[in-house]
Formats: sequence, C-alpha cells, structure tokens
Amino acid sequence: MIANYKSVFLNYLEERVEVKEPRNLYEPIAYILNLGGKKLRPILTLMATDIFGGNHKKALDAALAIEVFHNFTLIHDDIMDDAPLRRGNQTVHEKWDVNTGILSGDAMLILAYQYLENYEVTTFKKLTSLFSKTALEVCEGQQLDIDFETRNDVTIEEYIKMISLKTSVLVATALKMGAVIADASTEDTNHIYNFGLNLGIAFQLQDDYLDAYGNPDTFGKQVGGDIIENKKTYLYIKALELSSESEKETLNKLFNTEQHDYQQKIEKVKTIFELSGASEKTRVAIKNYTQKAFEVLESISITSEKKQLLREFGEGLMNRNV
Ligand code: IPE
Ligand code: IPE
Ligand code: MG
Ligand code: MG
Ligand code: MG
Repeated sequence: MIANYKSVFLNYLEERVEVKEPRNLYEPIAYILNLGGKKLRPILTLMATDIFGGNHKKALDAALAIEVFHNFTLIHDDIMDDAPLRRGNQTVHEKWDVNTGILSGDAMLILAYQYLENYEVTTFKKLTSLFSKTALEVCEGQQLDIDFETRNDVTIEEYIKMISLKTSVLVATALKMGAVIADASTEDTNHIYNFGLNLGIAFQLQDDYLDAYGNPDTFGKQVGGDIIENKKTYLYIKALELSSESEKETLNKLFNTEQHDYQQKIEKVKTIFELSGASEKTRVAIKNYTQKAFEVLESISITSEKKQLLREFGEGLMNRNV
C-alpha cells in the first residue's frame, strides 16, 4: 500500500521535473530530486487524501509541492550545516558550489508554489495559506537550530519547540493538505495535523539519534555531523542533565572549543551520551511521541482499517535506519 503510493508519486515526479536552460539552475534540482530519499511527506499527502475519501490522484500536485519544498530545505540546510553527504551522495553545494545551492534552492521554493496553481481557487487559497505559514515556521525552526549551536543553556522544551518548527510542521502539513483536498471536516483536518506534529517530533528525535548512531555504510549522511556542528540535540541536552560534574565539563569543553580531531570528538561525545543514559532516554522519547501521535489518531472519524494504515506508517518510521 505505502510502496504503491511511493511508486505513483515517483512516476509523477519523473513526468513533471524537467531540465532546461540554464542547466546550472535546473540540473541541481533534478539531481537532488532523483537522489532517492524516502518520499515520506508526499506519501502522507496521497494517503491522507484517500483516507478522507478523496482520490489521491488529485493530491499529486500538492504532494509534489511538498517534496520539492522539502528538497529545497535540504539543499539550504546542507549549506548551513556544512554537510558533505546527502542520500549517500555529494551535497549540491559540494558537487557544484554554494551559490548554485542558494539559487537552485530559491527556484525550488517558487516551483513548489507553481505546482499548487493547478487547484481551483477555493482549494488553492487554503493550500497556499497553509503552505506559507508552514514555510515561514520552517525558517524559524532553522534559525533556532543555528542559534542553539552557540548556546549552552538550551532546554528540552526549547529543543522540542525548535524541531516542531523545522520538521514537524511540514509532516503535519503534508497530511493536512491531503485532508483539505479530500474536503475532510475541520475537526478531522485539525486532528490529522496534530497526529503529524507528534509523529514529526518522533521523526526528528530519531533523525538526531541516527545522526550519532547510524551505520555509516547505509545512513547516507555524515555520521556524527551534529556533534561536529555542536547541535543541541535531545541526546546532548539530556546528557548534560544526567551527567556528573566532570563529564558535564568535558562535554561543554568539547562543544565550546575548536576541535581539530573530529573523530575523537565524536567518540568522546558518544561515550558520554551512552554512559549518562541520554541515548536510552532518547529512544524512550521517540516511542512516547509516536504513542502520542497514535492517541491523537483515535479521535479521527475514519475506519479502524484506515487508522491502522497510519499506525503502520508511524511504526515504520520508528524502526527505520535511514
Ligand atoms: C531529512 O528528512 C530532514 C529532516 C527533517 C530530518 P528525511 O529523512 O525525510 O530525508 P529524505 O527525504 O528521506 O532523504
Ligand atoms: C533539517 O534538520 C530540517 C530541515 C531540513 C528543515 P537536520 O539538519 O537534522 O536534517 P538532516 O539531518 O541534515 O537531514
Ligand atoms: Mg542538516
Ligand atoms: Mg540542520
Ligand atoms: Mg539531522
């Protein structure tokens, strides 16, 4: 079922993405979009449309808008995070250069809006205002993420707020767009959004966990990248909270002074993550937020088979390793 949505979406993507002149603008766009990736968000949009009694074919342009927007954020995120690898390949700014990454990214944001022009005016208005709100929130989250790199007092609450903005709102919006296209009730549309928010938090917690503990051969991104960049993740904040004074000092020092040996920094930090119990706490938090998402699911007025489909999707996310 889920695999089917993915292949329907991939066919549409292939049909709609063209490389034209100037090639240096459009080639990086085709490159990132054809690099693989899980395509979770467009799958959610198509799935939500069907679940609320619509036809997923009507949701293809919204799904495309969401995926192209997501890939735009990845290009710019990789510049900001100084990341060399994406989906097992060179990042756009490494393969081309930073200026190319900026401009191709900008073009993708505009393309995303263009795909929504195919909807009739009432739906178009609903989709674009949701989309604009979400896109701005993603920027807010990304700014907080960067601001936190140089702060030492980030709380768990601030972290959850930051990841809700940079990641969850887009997952929630992917689902909500599907509900809007299917003309679902306002209550159900809000419930599915809240389901997405909680699932999105679990998803980003897992992303942070895998950034430290993923298998370098299959993960597709630089393992330890968040540690190199002094990212204030759940792992890090919990480790500070749970460590002894001397470990706390070591961790603070590793994140606040220039480290020349990155591998050594990564190893030391991961040891503290484990010994402090922060790794375990992160795994528990992933389960809890997924559970919270499943609880929200209960209030939606759809059949239990349809709820089961969304549940399976959530469980799949929790057990992923990329
Ligand atoms: C990566 O998103 C960025 C985050 C918000 C964590 P995905 O993990 O969905 O990336 P792809 O699209 O599957 O590569
Ligand atoms: C990215 O968070 C969120 C957005 C792209 C908006 P990360 O920086 O953790 O994503 P990855 O790990 O590079 O995919
Ligand atoms: Mg990143
Ligand atoms: Mg980032
Ligand atoms: Mg990450």
